[in-house]
Amino acid sequence: MSFLEMTEDIINHPLFLEMQEMPHHGGENSLYIHSVDTAKCACKLAKAFHMREDRVRAVTRAALLHDFFGYDWQSDRHRRFTKRYTGWRRVTHMHAFIHGAHAAHRAGRFFELDARQRAAITSHMFPLAPFPTNSEAWVLTLADKWVASKEVSAAVGWQVRNFYQNLRK
Ligand SMILES: [Fe+2]
Ligand SMILES: [Fe+2]
Repeated sequence: MSFLEMTEDIINHPLFLEMQEMPHHGGENSLYIHSVDTAKCACKLAKAFHMREDRVRAVTRAALLHDFFGYDWQSDRHRRFTKRYTGWRRVTHMHAFIHGAHAAHRAGRFFELDARQRAAITSHMFPLAPFPTNSEAWVLTLADKWVASKEVSAAVGWQVRNFYQNLRK
């Protein structure tokens, strides 16, 4: 089964397409690009680990939805939400800690997910989120970290290029 066959319904869903407008990890990256790249990476890893075909599909779909939390985490609105809490409660309500659980809940409202997929999405921010308890969760957390680190390096390169181009103007 190809990547597109596994994911077509999600990739073309209007709420998933909305993520094209949500910035993520700086530079020209969006939440949409990050999610598709993470799903492709999770798919490759699952195949490399010889997971069963139905579980390759499951982890690929979970990876596509792992950041489907549905808000702009860099917006003033989200900043105001976090500021409603103080001390340790503010820390535990920060985006990095809560968005996996939000994404799992929201994804479950629009797409059919099993318990293993929901657990994988919830724990993808490990060690800031609960310990991954199944193979899908480990594949997803690994794919997310791999893709995110590449994106952050690309964003640094993009900033540096912009800086030098502005100097020449
Ligand atoms: Fe995430
Ligand atoms: Fe992510």
